[in-house]
Formats: sequence, C-alpha cells, structure tokens
Amino acid sequence: MLVLGIESSCDETAAAVVRNGRDMLSSVISSQIEKHRPFGGVVPELASREHLSNIQPVVEQAMSDAGIAFRELDAVAVTQGPGLVGSLLVGVCYAKALAYGLGLPIIAVNHIEGHFYSVVLENPPIEYPAMALIVSGGHTNLFFVPEEGKYRVISRTRDDAAGEAFDKVAKMLGLGYPGGPVIENVAKFGDPKAVRFTMAKISDGRPDFSFSGLKTAVSRHIRERNIEPVRNGEAPDQQVADLAASFQASVVNSLVGTMEKQAAALSPKTLIVAGGVACNLALREAVEASASRLGVPVYFPSKHLSTDNAAMIAAAGHARLLRGETSGLDITADISLRLQNLDNTDAELRRRKVRYKP
Ligand code: KG4
Ligand code: ZN
Repeated sequence: MLVLGIESSCDETAAAVVRNGRDMLSSVISSQIEKHRPFGGVVPELASREHLSNIQPVVEQAMSDAGIAFRELDAVAVTQGPGLVGSLLVGVCYAKALAYGLGLPIIAVNHIEGHFYSVVLENPPIEYPAMALIVSGGHTNLFFVPEEGKYRVISRTRDDAAGEAFDKVAKMLGLGYPGGPVIENVAKFGDPKAVRFTMAKISDGRPDFSFSGLKTAVSRHIRERNIEPVRNGEAPDQQVADLAASFQASVVNSLVGTMEKQAAALSPKTLIVAGGVACNLALREAVEASASRLGVPVYFPSKHLSTDNAAMIAAAGHARLLRGETSGLDITADISLRLQNLDNTDAELRRRKVRYKP
C-alpha cells in the first residue's frame, strides 16, 4: 500500500511516500525558516505564497526519490488542520486535485495525529494503551490512547505551547528564531539551577500545563538583572546561558513531571514524545530517565521526523485508510481541528474562567 503524504500547515512544504504505513520511501521538506527569520516568526501571507510555489516541485521530488509513478499510488493523505489557513489551503487544494485526477481516495489527517504517527516509521510497533506527549510550536498536549485511533486529552496547555515559549524567550534574549535549537545550544553552557522558577498550577485541579507565567518570570528576571539581549554575532554571556538553562529545565520538569504522574496512574505500555520540541536532548534524557523508573519503553522520532514533515502524515493516513476513514473531495482546511474522540471536555474548559496559582 503506497500513500503519498502532503503537509503544509505552517512553514514547511513537505511531501513523502510511505509503503505499508512504515517504510519511508522518500521524505522531502522545503523549509521556509530563512524567509521568516528577518521577522522573528512565521508571517502567514509569506508562508502561503511560499507553499504555492514549492508544492509542485516538492511533490515531484518525493515521487522521483521514491522511484514510483503517480499511477502506482493507493491514496493521498493531507494535513487538514490545525494550522494557518492560507498554508493549509495550499496542501488541501493540491491534494484534492491530485486525488481527483488520479481517481484515488483522499485522507484528511489531523496534524497532531501526524506527530503521533511520526514514531511508527523508526520504532517497534506501538503497544496500546499508549501515552503520547505532543510538544511543538503550536501544541502541547498529553494524550492517553487506549487503542489505535482513540484519543483522550489528559493535559493540555492553557496558554502558550512549549515551543512557543522557547521561541518567545529566545527573542527576549536576542538569540534569534526559531528559539528551541538556540536555547538548547546556549543552555549547554549554563547552570539549570541558577534561577529558580516556580511553575503555575491550574486552580481547577486539572493536570494542565501553563507556560505564559514562566515567560513573564523570564522577562521580569531580564529587567531586574539588566540583562542585555545578545547582539548579532556576539557570544552569550554566563547570565544568558544560566537563564536559558534554567528556563529549559523548568519546561522539561513541567512536561516530564506531569507525564510521569499520569503514566504512573494509567499504566500505558508505550510512551511517545513527538513534535518539534522532542528534538531537545534535555527533554529526551529526562523522559528516558522517567520511562526507566516506570519500566515502560519510550519512542521518539528522529530529528528529521520531529519537526513538521509529510512522512508522518502518510503514516497517519495509512492507519486511517485501514480503519476505513477516508474523506470526500468536499474537505477543506480546518484551522482549529481537534484530536480528541473520548471524553471531550474542550467546550466545557473554554467556558470556564481560568485562574492560576503561582
Ligand atoms: O513540530 P514543529 O516543527 O511545528 C509545529 O507544529 O509547531 O515544531 C516547531 C517548534 C518551534 O517552536 C521550535 O522552537 C521547537 O519546535 N523546537 C525546539 C527544538 N527544536 C525545535 N524546542 C526545544 N528544543 C529544540 N531543540
Ligand atoms: Zn507540527
């Protein structure tokens, strides 16, 4: 079974061919980081224009790298959401036209479910129940997955995503964009215990995450200590390195502490950590230590598959195809698509006023 995956939800145009949901025959990613870097973040209009000019060559490259012809494909899987509407529309329209032209089924894939499936390409098969921490620039969710295709959100961020917090703190410190990799590099030279940050607890007792208070605490620390942002080309000083290391340690402790507590209560057979922030080695080491305390295997995607890519979309699409969950040609981009089909409390949470205890 050959599935072509297409991903364009944010600032990467990607296409990949995956055989039987596991063998990655090709994976092409055209990153727009250099286009957006001068603006310190993704500019949605620029992103959709870039997708428009990149999508055709990226798909053709993926097909030629895989060494297969379009008529050999069995299905086209595409990211439907969540993401930026202009970006998503490029992938969705292209995939619909391709599927229609080739007479193939189209499979709409949730981007977050894609990150979940990023681990199946390079690890042993997932054993269920599983628990998955999906941490990226746009999302921070801990899922309990009792069986394939069933998702219950146990913890979610009530404000910023973890990757977003990395990006914002890097900006405050003059470290550039994207923030995750630079913070991680600078943090190697810092003391993670130098600055003690207290993590917010949600007052309604849910095991949710919150990173905006931490971001404010970092900004206060910068003001109080008169820390100068790093200027272009200069090496960060010790104060900046200590702050980066302490911030990173707080994020890691919050993510791993919550995951370990929930895993101890729900006894999953596999732990999964995926999404752009899963590139972070401090996070990986902390999760590995936690998994060995729990006696459960943990799967991570490789670096190539941690950030946005289309192989994970093809793998998730293949699983949907096997479950008979194909879509019609009437699908369109859905910027706020959720991944939760068990115990959905999202609407209730949105109605409730959130209060934080420091
Ligand atoms: O999954 P992804 O490519 O896009 C989204 O779906 O959001 O994740 C991008 C995010 C960015 O916020 C980036 O700063 C973060 O992942 N990231 C990292 C690292 N590498 C990328 N965060 C922490 N440490 C890293 N090494
Ligand atoms: Zn992503």
